[in-house]
This record gives sequence, structure tokens and C-alpha cells, in this order.
Amino acid sequence: MHNTKTFPDNPAVAAGFAADLSDWLKSIPSEQTKITIALSGGSTPKLLFQHLAENYADLIDWSRLHFFWGDERCVGPDDPESNYGEANKLLLSHVSIPESNVHRVRGEDDPQAEATRYGQEILEHVSLDKNGIPSFDLIMLGMGGDGHTASIFPHEMNLMTATEVCVVATHPESGQKRVSFSGPVLNAAQKIAFLITGESKASVLAEIFAKSGAWETYPTSYIQPPSGEVTFYTDAAAVSQLDAS
Ligand code: 6PG
Repeated sequence: MHNTKTFPDNPAVAAGFAADLSDWLKSIPSEQTKITIALSGGSTPKLLFQHLAENYADLIDWSRLHFFWGDERCVGPDDPESNYGEANKLLLSHVSIPESNVHRVRGEDDPQAEATRYGQEILEHVSLDKNGIPSFDLIMLGMGGDGHTASIFPHEMNLMTATEVCVVATHPESGQKRVSFSGPVLNAAQKIAFLITGESKASVLAEIFAKSGAWETYPTSYIQPPSGEVTFYTDAAAVSQLDAS
């Protein structure tokens, strides 16, 4: 089951998701002092981070949020490619959040060793579901024009069923290594929010929604948390081909 919320453009998607995030956080009883959220990289999240820093710095109790990353490029934290680096620059450094609540992937370390270490860190902080899989309160995801999500790309569909918490993935064109949540961890989330914008995603999204064309080859098609809710936040361009599929 998924919901779709469509906005006119990219900034409106960021603002719409930020408003829902703030409402959802307010609805969580104050006794819950730890809320686990996995962030993603990508263009819309950057707008979201800026929007949150500018409009919600004083409206959200950041101290009960624990941030993780659903995927990270294997580069140092100061590299412009670093998903942590971008979130830190645009959001985390502007809000009042304890450093111990920010759980970054050490992209500068050996990818396999770091995937194992990060998986352990997740197990220490995130509650487990009935199958013993860490269940994040919220995972934010994007989708590439090739149907990838987090860093699970079509040529590594096996990562969708890997038993590790975190895996090493390889970008199909650049060969860049990434550390990514495995499919089972993505699918154990309580809530998933996809932020998908732009014309370049339209045909793939249409195939995924209609289960037509090459839908089975897209990792995003397999994000179906059995006990979680999925919301697609899209702009008008990303849903422009829904009827054509
Ligand atoms: C990353 C991602 C990745 C991203 C999509 C969409 O770090 O590259 O987390 O999965 O979300 O590629 O990116 P855009 O929002 O820029 O299209």
C-alpha cells in the first residue's frame, strides 16, 4: 500500500514533506525520546535540508532525533559527494542536535569494514522487528532514473535480499563504492518517504506503479514494507507519465 502526494515543483515537494515530518514528529508522544530517521542523498533532500534549517530550527525538538544514512558514498565527510557532508552543511550544523545523535557512515574507511561496523552501530540504536531486523521509524529514499534506491542498483539486485544490515554497493557507471542499507532493512521501516522529482524519473515511476514494462528490474519496485507505510512525494513532472503506462 502506498500514498502519493504531488506538488507543483521541487521546492514545493521539500516544503510539503517538511510540513508532514513536523506534524508526524509532534504526534509522537514525548515519552519516546529516541526517533530513528535515515536520510538520503540526492537533489530534493538538499532543498529539504535547507528548508528545515530555515523554517523548523526552533519548531522541532531535534534532541530526540537520531539521524542515520540509508546510503553513503565512500568518500570523506568533507568531500562534496558525501551525503553526510551535505546534510551537515545544510541542516545539522544549523540546529540544536547533540553530536552523539548523528550516526554517519565513515565513508573514508574501508568499505566492507565500514559496512560491518555501521551495521553494528545500527543494531545498538535501532529497535528490532519480530524478525530481528532493525526497524527505523522513518527512512527517506530517492529513486534514480534507472530505478535504483538507496544504493541498490539494478545490476546488484541480490542486495535487496542480503542478510547483512549494511552492504557494499558499486555505482554502475563510476564504479564508486557505496555503503547502503540492505533490502530487508529498508523493508523493515515503520515509514518510508520517497522524494522523487523531475521528468527523468517519469517513465520508470509509471512502470513501477502500473507493474508494467521493466518494473521487475527496478530495485524501487521491491520497497514494500509489510508493516510500514510508504508515501511518494513527487513533483508534477515525475508523475507526468502515469497514465501513459
Ligand atoms: C545517493 C542516493 C540515491 C538518490 C537517487 C535520487 O546518495 O545517490 O541516496 O539513491 O536518492 O539517486 O537522486 P536525485 O534526488 O538527485 O534524483
